[in-house]
Amino acid sequence: MPLDPYTVREDFPILKRVVNGKSLVYFNNAATTQKPVQVVEAIKDYYYNYNSDVLRSVNTLSSQATDLYMEARRKIAGFIGAGEDEIVFTRNTTEGLNMVAEALSGRIGRGSLVVTSIMEHHSNLLPWRRIVARKGGRLTVVGMNRDFTIDMDMVEKSLEEGCEILTTLHVSNVLGTVNPVKELSKLAHKHGCLFILDAAQSVPHMPFNVKDVEPDATAFSGHKMLGPTGIGVLYVKRSILEEVEPMLLGGGMVKTVTLETQVYEDIPFRFEAGTPNVEGVIGLAAAVDYLRKIGLENIAEHESKLVKHLLEGLDRSFVEVYGPGEADKHAGILSFNVKGVHPHDVAQFLDADGIMIRSGALCAEPLVNALGASAVARVSFYLYNTLEEVDMFHESLRRMRMLM
Ligand SMILES: Cc1ncc(COP(=O)(O)O)c(C=O)c1O
Repeated sequence: MPLDPYTVREDFPILKRVVNGKSLVYFNNAATTQKPVQVVEAIKDYYYNYNSDVLRSVNTLSSQATDLYMEARRKIAGFIGAGEDEIVFTRNTTEGLNMVAEALSGRIGRGSLVVTSIMEHHSNLLPWRRIVARKGGRLTVVGMNRDFTIDMDMVEKSLEEGCEILTTLHVSNVLGTVNPVKELSKLAHKHGCLFILDAAQSVPHMPFNVKDVEPDATAFSGHKMLGPTGIGVLYVKRSILEEVEPMLLGGGMVKTVTLETQVYEDIPFRFEAGTPNVEGVIGLAAAVDYLRKIGLENIAEHESKLVKHLLEGLDRSFVEVYGPGEADKHAGILSFNVKGVHPHDVAQFLDADGIMIRSGALCAEPLVNALGASAVARVSFYLYNTLEEVDMFHESLRRMRMLM
Protein backbone atom coordinates (compact mmCIF):
# COMPACT_ATOMS: atom_id res chain seq x y z
CA MET A 1 0.00 0.00 0.00
CA PRO A 2 1.52 3.37 -0.96
CA LEU A 3 1.81 5.86 1.84
CA ASP A 4 -1.13 8.23 2.29
CA PRO A 5 0.29 11.42 3.86
CA TYR A 6 -3.20 12.65 4.77
CA THR A 7 -3.82 9.58 6.97
CA VAL A 8 -0.31 9.91 8.45
CA ARG A 9 -0.91 13.59 9.28
CA GLU A 10 -3.76 12.66 11.63
CA ASP A 11 -1.09 11.28 13.99
CA PHE A 12 0.82 14.59 14.17
CA PRO A 13 -1.11 17.20 16.20
CA ILE A 14 1.42 19.96 15.45
CA LEU A 15 0.58 19.80 11.73
CA LYS A 16 -2.86 21.23 12.54
CA ARG A 17 -1.25 24.44 13.80
CA VAL A 18 -1.78 27.76 12.15
CA VAL A 19 1.44 29.82 11.95
CA ASN A 20 1.43 33.47 10.88
CA GLY A 21 -2.21 33.05 9.89
CA LYS A 22 -1.43 30.13 7.56
CA SER A 23 -1.56 26.34 7.89
CA LEU A 24 1.82 25.11 9.02
CA VAL A 25 3.97 23.60 6.27
CA TYR A 26 6.94 21.87 7.86
CA PHE A 27 9.81 21.48 5.38
CA ASN A 28 12.68 21.37 7.89
CA ASN A 29 12.81 17.63 8.48
CA ALA A 30 16.54 17.21 7.90
CA ALA A 31 17.03 19.40 10.98
CA THR A 32 14.47 17.61 13.14
CA THR A 33 11.14 15.87 12.56
CA GLN A 34 7.75 16.18 14.18
CA LYS A 35 6.51 13.52 16.63
CA PRO A 36 3.40 11.35 16.26
CA VAL A 37 0.99 10.82 19.17
CA GLN A 38 2.23 7.23 19.38
CA VAL A 39 5.71 8.44 20.42
CA VAL A 40 4.40 11.03 22.86
CA GLU A 41 1.96 8.49 24.37
CA ALA A 42 4.72 5.88 24.82
CA ILE A 43 6.77 8.41 26.78
CA LYS A 44 3.74 9.49 28.79
CA ASP A 45 2.88 5.88 29.59
CA TYR A 46 6.45 5.31 30.77
CA TYR A 47 6.34 8.31 33.10
CA TYR A 48 2.82 7.66 34.37
CA ASN A 49 3.30 3.95 35.00
CA TYR A 50 6.89 2.72 34.98
CA ASN A 51 9.34 5.53 35.73
CA SER A 52 12.33 4.12 37.62
CA ASP A 53 16.04 3.50 37.33
CA VAL A 54 17.00 0.64 35.01
CA LEU A 55 19.51 -2.23 35.19
CA ARG A 56 20.26 -1.55 38.87
CA SER A 57 17.57 -1.97 41.52
CA VAL A 58 15.72 -5.14 42.48
CA ASN A 59 12.24 -3.69 42.96
CA THR A 60 9.15 -4.30 40.82
CA LEU A 61 9.04 -0.86 39.21
CA SER A 62 12.71 -0.98 38.29
CA SER A 63 12.42 -4.45 36.83
CA GLN A 64 9.38 -3.43 34.73
CA ALA A 65 11.21 -0.30 33.52
CA THR A 66 14.26 -2.46 32.73
CA ASP A 67 12.10 -4.87 30.70
CA LEU A 68 10.66 -1.98 28.69
CA TYR A 69 14.14 -0.52 28.20
CA MET A 70 15.64 -3.81 27.03
CA GLU A 71 12.72 -4.53 24.70
CA ALA A 72 13.17 -1.04 23.22
CA ARG A 73 16.90 -1.71 22.74
CA ARG A 74 16.14 -4.93 20.84
CA LYS A 75 13.65 -3.13 18.60
CA ILE A 76 16.02 -0.26 17.80
CA ALA A 77 18.96 -2.60 17.10
CA GLY A 78 16.69 -4.79 14.93
CA PHE A 79 15.62 -1.74 12.92
CA ILE A 80 19.13 -1.54 11.41
CA GLY A 81 19.85 -5.29 11.53
CA ALA A 82 22.28 -4.98 14.44
CA GLY A 83 22.75 -7.23 17.46
CA GLU A 84 21.39 -5.66 20.65
CA ASP A 85 24.92 -5.64 22.11
CA GLU A 86 26.27 -3.71 19.10
CA ILE A 87 24.40 -0.45 19.67
CA VAL A 88 25.39 2.21 22.16
CA PHE A 89 22.88 4.89 23.10
CA THR A 90 24.16 8.42 22.65
CA ARG A 91 22.57 11.88 22.69
CA ASN A 92 22.65 12.24 18.89
CA THR A 93 24.69 11.62 15.73
CA THR A 94 27.24 14.24 16.75
CA GLU A 95 27.99 12.49 20.03
CA GLY A 96 28.18 9.11 18.26
CA LEU A 97 30.70 10.34 15.69
CA ASN A 98 32.81 12.06 18.36
CA MET A 99 32.75 8.89 20.46
CA VAL A 100 33.83 6.65 17.61
CA ALA A 101 36.63 9.05 16.60
CA GLU A 102 37.93 9.09 20.18
CA ALA A 103 37.53 5.33 20.56
CA LEU A 104 39.51 4.67 17.37
CA SER A 105 42.19 7.26 18.09
CA GLY A 106 44.45 4.43 19.25
CA ARG A 107 44.74 3.36 15.60
CA ILE A 108 45.99 6.78 14.53
CA GLY A 109 49.72 7.41 14.87
CA ARG A 110 52.34 9.65 13.24
CA GLY A 111 51.62 9.75 9.50
CA SER A 112 48.39 7.66 9.71
CA LEU A 113 45.81 8.55 7.12
CA VAL A 114 42.11 9.25 7.69
CA VAL A 115 40.04 9.85 4.56
CA THR A 116 36.82 11.83 4.55
CA SER A 117 34.88 13.93 2.02
CA ILE A 118 34.02 17.53 1.21
CA MET A 119 30.35 16.61 1.70
CA GLU A 120 30.55 16.06 5.45
CA HIS A 121 28.47 17.68 8.14
CA HIS A 122 30.79 19.41 10.65
CA SER A 123 30.15 16.57 13.08
CA ASN A 124 31.96 14.14 10.79
CA LEU A 125 34.85 16.46 9.97
CA LEU A 126 35.90 18.26 13.15
CA PRO A 127 36.33 15.21 15.43
CA TRP A 128 38.62 13.49 12.89
CA ARG A 129 40.58 16.66 12.22
CA ARG A 130 41.25 17.04 15.94
CA ILE A 131 42.37 13.42 16.31
CA VAL A 132 44.82 13.53 13.39
CA ALA A 133 46.20 16.89 14.62
CA ARG A 134 46.74 15.42 18.11
CA LYS A 135 48.35 12.22 16.84
CA GLY A 136 50.42 13.66 13.98
CA GLY A 137 48.27 11.87 11.38
CA ARG A 138 46.94 13.16 8.06
CA LEU A 139 43.42 13.92 6.88
CA THR A 140 42.57 13.70 3.19
CA VAL A 141 39.32 15.34 2.12
CA VAL A 142 38.12 13.88 -1.19
CA GLY A 143 35.91 15.87 -3.55
CA MET A 144 32.73 15.15 -5.51
CA ASN A 145 31.93 13.99 -9.02
CA ARG A 146 29.88 16.06 -11.43
CA ASP A 147 26.77 14.23 -10.18
CA PHE A 148 27.48 15.46 -6.63
CA THR A 149 28.37 12.05 -5.21
CA ILE A 150 31.71 11.28 -3.64
CA ASP A 151 34.63 10.96 -6.06
CA MET A 152 35.29 7.21 -5.94
CA ASP A 153 38.51 7.41 -7.96
CA MET A 154 39.95 9.84 -5.47
CA VAL A 155 38.77 7.63 -2.60
CA GLU A 156 40.52 4.64 -4.16
CA LYS A 157 43.74 6.58 -4.77
CA SER A 158 43.75 7.79 -1.16
CA LEU A 159 43.11 4.28 0.15
CA GLU A 160 45.97 2.91 -1.93
CA GLU A 161 48.31 5.15 0.09
CA GLY A 162 47.45 3.01 3.12
CA CYS A 163 44.60 4.37 5.17
CA GLU A 164 43.34 3.61 8.70
CA ILE A 165 39.84 5.05 8.50
CA LEU A 166 37.49 6.04 5.69
CA THR A 167 34.52 8.06 6.94
CA THR A 168 31.69 9.57 4.90
CA LEU A 169 28.06 10.45 5.13
CA HIS A 170 25.38 8.35 3.45
CA VAL A 171 22.95 11.07 2.38
CA SER A 172 24.11 14.68 2.10
CA ASN A 173 22.12 17.05 4.31
CA VAL A 174 22.83 19.80 1.77
CA LEU A 175 22.55 18.13 -1.63
CA GLY A 176 20.29 15.20 -0.87
CA THR A 177 22.60 12.95 -2.90
CA VAL A 178 23.06 9.35 -1.84
CA ASN A 179 26.61 8.02 -1.65
CA PRO A 180 27.35 4.44 -2.82
CA VAL A 181 27.95 3.18 0.69
CA LYS A 182 28.17 -0.53 -0.12
CA GLU A 183 30.93 0.18 -2.63
CA LEU A 184 32.70 2.50 -0.20
CA SER A 185 32.53 -0.12 2.52
CA LYS A 186 33.92 -2.85 0.22
CA LEU A 187 36.67 -0.57 -1.03
CA ALA A 188 37.71 0.39 2.50
CA HIS A 189 37.81 -3.23 3.63
CA LYS A 190 39.74 -4.30 0.53
CA HIS A 191 42.44 -1.85 1.63
CA GLY A 192 42.39 -2.97 5.27
CA CYS A 193 40.74 0.25 6.36
CA LEU A 194 37.76 0.82 8.68
CA PHE A 195 34.57 2.33 7.24
CA ILE A 196 32.68 4.75 9.49
CA LEU A 197 29.32 6.02 8.25
CA ASP A 198 27.27 9.07 9.18
CA ALA A 199 23.74 7.78 8.61
CA ALA A 200 21.88 10.77 10.10
CA GLN A 201 19.96 11.45 6.88
CA SER A 202 19.53 7.87 5.63
CA VAL A 203 18.33 5.64 8.50
CA PRO A 204 15.17 7.77 8.99
CA HIS A 205 14.27 7.80 5.29
CA MET A 206 15.17 4.54 3.53
CA PRO A 207 15.74 0.85 4.25
CA PHE A 208 19.10 0.47 5.95
CA ASN A 209 20.74 -2.68 7.27
CA VAL A 210 24.24 -2.94 8.73
CA LYS A 211 24.51 -6.51 7.39
CA ASP A 212 24.02 -5.15 3.92
CA VAL A 213 26.20 -2.03 4.10
CA GLU A 214 28.75 -3.51 6.53
CA PRO A 215 30.05 -0.33 8.14
CA ASP A 216 32.43 -0.76 11.06
CA ALA A 217 30.48 1.95 12.86
CA THR A 218 27.52 4.14 12.04
CA ALA A 219 25.62 6.88 13.87
CA PHE A 220 22.14 8.40 13.67
CA SER A 221 19.76 10.57 15.72
CA GLY A 222 16.34 9.72 17.16
CA HIS A 223 14.94 13.22 16.70
CA LYS A 224 15.40 13.02 12.92
CA MET A 225 13.19 9.91 12.74
CA LEU A 226 10.07 10.89 14.73
CA GLY A 227 11.73 10.11 18.07
CA PRO A 228 12.50 12.46 20.94
CA THR A 229 15.54 14.72 21.15
CA GLY A 230 18.49 13.65 23.30
CA ILE A 231 18.65 10.07 22.07
CA GLY A 232 20.90 8.75 19.33
CA VAL A 233 22.41 5.44 18.30
CA LEU A 234 25.99 4.48 17.64
CA TYR A 235 26.38 1.06 16.03
CA VAL A 236 29.83 -0.47 16.30
CA LYS A 237 30.80 -3.89 14.99
CA ARG A 238 31.09 -6.31 17.93
CA SER A 239 34.79 -7.14 17.39
CA ILE A 240 35.71 -3.43 17.52
CA LEU A 241 33.44 -2.63 20.44
CA GLU A 242 35.11 -5.42 22.42
CA GLU A 243 38.52 -3.89 21.84
CA VAL A 244 38.09 -0.12 22.42
CA GLU A 245 38.19 1.82 25.70
CA PRO A 246 35.03 3.41 27.10
CA MET A 247 35.11 7.22 27.08
CA LEU A 248 33.05 7.79 30.24
CA LEU A 249 33.68 5.89 33.45
CA GLY A 250 31.36 5.62 36.44
CA GLY A 251 28.17 3.88 37.54
CA GLY A 252 26.45 1.23 35.44
CA MET A 253 29.51 0.37 33.32
CA VAL A 254 31.50 -1.79 35.76
CA LYS A 255 31.03 -5.29 37.16
CA THR A 256 33.29 -4.77 40.19
CA VAL A 257 35.42 -2.01 41.61
CA THR A 258 38.12 -2.14 44.30
CA LEU A 259 40.26 0.76 45.45
CA GLU A 260 42.96 -0.39 43.03
CA THR A 261 41.12 -1.65 39.95
CA GLN A 262 37.84 -2.30 38.14
CA VAL A 263 36.31 -4.84 35.76
CA TYR A 264 34.18 -3.30 33.03
CA GLU A 265 30.67 -4.49 32.20
CA ASP A 266 30.07 -6.47 29.00
CA ILE A 267 29.39 -4.58 25.77
CA PRO A 268 27.42 -2.41 25.17
CA PHE A 269 26.83 -1.39 28.80
CA ARG A 270 30.46 -0.50 29.43
CA PHE A 271 29.90 2.36 26.96
CA GLU A 272 26.79 3.67 28.70
CA ALA A 273 28.04 5.08 31.99
CA GLY A 274 25.50 6.80 34.24
CA THR A 275 21.71 6.68 34.31
CA PRO A 276 20.53 6.31 30.72
CA ASN A 277 17.90 8.31 28.83
CA VAL A 278 15.14 5.74 29.41
CA GLU A 279 12.31 7.93 28.09
CA GLY A 280 14.38 8.64 24.97
CA VAL A 281 14.97 4.96 24.28
CA ILE A 282 11.29 4.12 24.83
CA GLY A 283 10.19 7.04 22.63
CA LEU A 284 12.64 6.02 19.90
CA ALA A 285 11.36 2.42 19.98
CA ALA A 286 7.81 3.77 19.46
CA ALA A 287 9.13 5.82 16.51
CA VAL A 288 10.75 2.69 15.06
CA ASP A 289 7.41 0.82 15.38
CA TYR A 290 5.70 3.68 13.57
CA LEU A 291 8.25 3.81 10.73
CA ARG A 292 8.15 0.03 10.32
CA LYS A 293 4.36 0.06 10.09
CA ILE A 294 4.48 2.63 7.27
CA GLY A 295 7.47 0.94 5.60
CA LEU A 296 10.80 2.57 4.78
CA GLU A 297 10.45 1.75 1.06
CA ASN A 298 7.14 3.63 1.04
CA ILE A 299 8.69 6.61 2.79
CA ALA A 300 11.57 6.77 0.29
CA GLU A 301 9.14 6.50 -2.63
CA HIS A 302 6.89 9.21 -1.21
CA GLU A 303 9.79 11.63 -0.67
CA SER A 304 11.00 10.95 -4.19
CA LYS A 305 7.57 12.00 -5.58
CA LEU A 306 7.72 15.19 -3.52
CA VAL A 307 11.21 16.07 -4.78
CA LYS A 308 10.16 15.42 -8.38
CA HIS A 309 7.18 17.75 -7.95
CA LEU A 310 9.38 20.33 -6.23
CA LEU A 311 11.99 20.30 -9.01
CA GLU A 312 9.39 20.44 -11.78
CA GLY A 313 7.83 23.59 -10.37
CA LEU A 314 11.01 25.59 -9.82
CA ASP A 315 11.70 28.40 -12.25
CA ARG A 316 15.42 27.99 -12.95
CA SER A 317 15.77 31.52 -14.31
CA PHE A 318 15.07 32.68 -10.78
CA VAL A 319 16.18 29.77 -8.61
CA GLU A 320 19.59 28.10 -8.52
CA VAL A 321 19.45 24.45 -7.41
CA TYR A 322 22.49 22.88 -5.73
CA GLY A 323 22.97 19.24 -6.49
CA PRO A 324 21.63 17.06 -9.30
CA GLY A 325 18.74 18.37 -11.35
CA GLU A 326 17.14 14.91 -11.56
CA ALA A 327 14.68 13.86 -8.88
CA ASP A 328 15.78 10.22 -8.94
CA LYS A 329 19.25 11.25 -7.79
CA HIS A 330 17.87 12.94 -4.66
CA ALA A 331 16.72 11.77 -1.29
CA GLY A 332 14.05 14.11 0.11
CA ILE A 333 16.40 17.09 0.48
CA LEU A 334 16.95 20.02 -1.88
CA SER A 335 19.05 23.15 -1.40
CA PHE A 336 18.67 26.24 -3.54
CA ASN A 337 19.16 29.97 -3.71
CA VAL A 338 16.82 32.57 -5.12
CA LYS A 339 19.04 34.70 -7.33
CA GLY A 340 19.79 38.06 -5.71
CA VAL A 341 18.04 37.23 -2.42
CA HIS A 342 19.82 36.11 0.74
CA PRO A 343 18.60 32.66 1.85
CA HIS A 344 17.65 34.01 5.29
CA ASP A 345 15.35 36.50 3.54
CA VAL A 346 13.91 33.67 1.46
CA ALA A 347 13.28 31.70 4.67
CA GLN A 348 11.57 34.69 6.27
CA PHE A 349 9.38 35.29 3.25
CA LEU A 350 8.28 31.66 3.23
CA ASP A 351 7.81 31.79 7.00
CA ALA A 352 5.27 34.59 6.57
CA ASP A 353 3.32 32.05 4.47
CA GLY A 354 3.56 29.44 7.24
CA ILE A 355 6.32 27.48 5.44
CA MET A 356 9.25 26.45 7.64
CA ILE A 357 12.55 25.82 5.89
CA ARG A 358 16.21 26.00 6.94
CA SER A 359 18.77 28.47 5.62
CA GLY A 360 22.46 29.06 6.26
CA ALA A 361 25.58 26.95 5.85
CA LEU A 362 23.68 23.88 7.18
CA CYS A 363 26.61 22.82 9.42
CA ALA A 364 28.48 21.91 6.24
CA GLU A 365 30.35 25.13 5.52
CA PRO A 366 33.19 23.63 3.43
CA LEU A 367 30.62 21.99 1.14
CA VAL A 368 28.44 25.10 0.82
CA ASN A 369 31.57 27.15 0.03
CA ALA A 370 32.66 24.55 -2.54
CA LEU A 371 29.27 25.04 -4.20
CA GLY A 372 30.18 28.70 -4.61
CA ALA A 373 27.82 29.96 -1.90
CA SER A 374 28.15 31.16 1.66
CA ALA A 375 24.62 30.09 2.55
CA VAL A 376 21.71 28.22 0.96
CA ALA A 377 18.01 27.64 1.55
CA ARG A 378 16.93 24.04 2.11
CA VAL A 379 13.66 22.14 1.80
CA SER A 380 13.62 18.69 3.40
CA PHE A 381 10.65 16.32 3.37
CA TYR A 382 9.22 13.52 5.45
CA LEU A 383 6.34 11.10 5.35
CA TYR A 384 3.65 13.65 6.34
CA ASN A 385 4.43 16.20 3.61
CA THR A 386 2.08 16.50 0.64
CA LEU A 387 2.18 17.55 -3.02
CA GLU A 388 -0.28 20.29 -2.08
CA GLU A 389 2.27 21.72 0.37
CA VAL A 390 4.86 21.73 -2.43
CA ASP A 391 2.37 23.73 -4.53
CA MET A 392 2.03 26.22 -1.68
CA PHE A 393 5.81 26.55 -1.61
CA HIS A 394 5.94 27.20 -5.37
CA GLU A 395 3.18 29.77 -5.05
CA SER A 396 5.03 31.55 -2.26
CA LEU A 397 8.23 31.70 -4.37
CA ARG A 398 6.23 33.07 -7.31
CA ARG A 399 4.85 35.85 -5.13
CA MET A 400 8.37 36.59 -3.93
CA ARG A 401 9.49 36.99 -7.53
CA MET A 402 6.65 39.37 -8.31
CA LEU A 403 7.64 41.56 -5.38
CA MET A 404 11.30 41.73 -6.45
C1 LIG B 1 24.49 14.40 7.74
C2 LIG B 1 24.36 14.82 9.16
N1 LIG B 1 25.25 14.38 10.06
C3 LIG B 1 25.18 14.71 11.35
C4 LIG B 1 24.19 15.53 11.82
C5 LIG B 1 24.16 15.88 13.27
O1 LIG B 1 22.99 15.42 13.85
P1 LIG B 1 22.65 15.83 15.36
O2 LIG B 1 22.53 17.32 15.38
O3 LIG B 1 21.37 15.14 15.65
O4 LIG B 1 23.79 15.36 16.18
C6 LIG B 1 23.24 16.03 10.93
C7 LIG B 1 22.18 16.94 11.39
O5 LIG B 1 21.72 17.81 10.72
C8 LIG B 1 23.32 15.65 9.57
O6 LIG B 1 22.44 16.10 8.68
